[in-house]
Amino acid sequence: MENREKFSSRLGFLLISAGCAIGLGNVWKFPYITGKYGGAAFVLIYFVFLLILGIPILTLELAVGRASQRSVALSMDVLEPKGTKWHWFKFPAMAGNYILMMFYTTVAGWMVYYFFKMAAGGFVGMNADEIGATFNSTLANPTLNVAFMIAVVISCMLIVGKGLQNGVEKITKVMMIALLVLMIVLAVRSFFLAGGEEGLRFYLYPDFSKLMEYGITEVLFAAMSQAFFTLSIGMGAIAIFGSFIDRSRSLMGEAICITILDTAVALMAGLIIFPACFAYGVDPGQGPGLIFVTLPNVFNAMPGGRLWGTLFFLFMCFAAFSTVIGVFQNLITFWTDMTDAPRKKIVAYHIVALIVLCLPCALGYNVLSGLQPLGEGTAILDLEDFLVSNNILPLGSIVYVLFCACKNGWGWENFMDEANAGEGLKFPNGIRLYVKYILPLIILFVFVMGYISMFS
Ligand code: PHE
Ligand code: NA
Repeated sequence: MENREKFSSRLGFLLISAGCAIGLGNVWKFPYITGKYGGAAFVLIYFVFLLILGIPILTLELAVGRASQRSVALSMDVLEPKGTKWHWFKFPAMAGNYILMMFYTTVAGWMVYYFFKMAAGGFVGMNADEIGATFNSTLANPTLNVAFMIAVVISCMLIVGKGLQNGVEKITKVMMIALLVLMIVLAVRSFFLAGGEEGLRFYLYPDFSKLMEYGITEVLFAAMSQAFFTLSIGMGAIAIFGSFIDRSRSLMGEAICITILDTAVALMAGLIIFPACFAYGVDPGQGPGLIFVTLPNVFNAMPGGRLWGTLFFLFMCFAAFSTVIGVFQNLITFWTDMTDAPRKKIVAYHIVALIVLCLPCALGYNVLSGLQPLGEGTAILDLEDFLVSNNILPLGSIVYVLFCACKNGWGWENFMDEANAGEGLKFPNGIRLYVKYILPLIILFVFVMGYISMFS
């Protein structure tokens, strides 16, 4: 096993962890599922889940990572009591990381393509229908999807190959700060769009009757899964960053910081997109294409829109890349923890393997569009997303919770010692019973009910 690098600063850690958290989940997925499930009421439920599940679980995961100083490949092996089998968790967890990348890189590829198209003036003079048609023809083109997916895989792997401080930390830091600034500018711009008020209403004024359309249990399941997805919790993706820091700060405070940054970006993405939907007659419930068919309209109608649009998609690429880089880092560390193979070799193998693994999703809207695994109109992407977001993340979160709270796991005292080492906010000891009993039951309940309503 190789020696572990550390982050050079706390800011580096926060921005990279936030960089792993903030991604397509915020700017692509959050708006489209909020649109699908009817707006503000969904957002409210999502907030509640962030608060009662997200922050505690994020703290647990960071603690496991920091105490073990290992990726999920070995973290439980190191911390579990002798003779227990917690370490088997590494298999579903790592599978989750791979499956996530199998669709994430395709969507990241769309972002890269839109960046180039925007920069080249490819949307100039188009009306809303033409912009919508452009996205459909993008999906329909297998070469384009595969080429951009490959570009994403290779460039992110090369950055990871350069190592933690040189590659990952330096690049992510700059990207995250630029992203935050630009999102604020665009949210202000979209806020004042003529005809956008109705979008703001949809987004900010909860109308609970809309929840009934889908059934409350399905909405709860979607909101909970999105809360886990957005924070990257449940499969060791964020734990790894805990393994790169020392014990100078307590972890609850860091978890709250990451959650606040992540939520701010998601909220702003909604503020940018929903007014624009209503201003240009785009259906907010239309699914994964939402951001791609809405935003070029906004930029077309803005003075200097081509420049703003180019910057926007550039930063979307940053957000996506910082997550891909974070997860790739995890995949590579998994193998450097488990084997003695040199890092360079592992990186090289991964480039090839990932390209192959990512093909089905990239081809899912064209060559393989006949496969509709979750019913009429769904694609391979939806299946892969469902496996990760609605299954591995919630169930994996339960594993983390039990591991930290139970005597025959790592145990509560050990967890509290780790989480509370250093300066900053402490994890409240008083919520032990909540964490141990209620929290996993909430997840299980929402999960089971969600399944029942989805498949009945
Ligand atoms: N949190 C990331 C996003 O919002 C996605 C992610 C999920 C990353 C799970 C790692 C693990 O885009
Ligand atoms: Na996120």
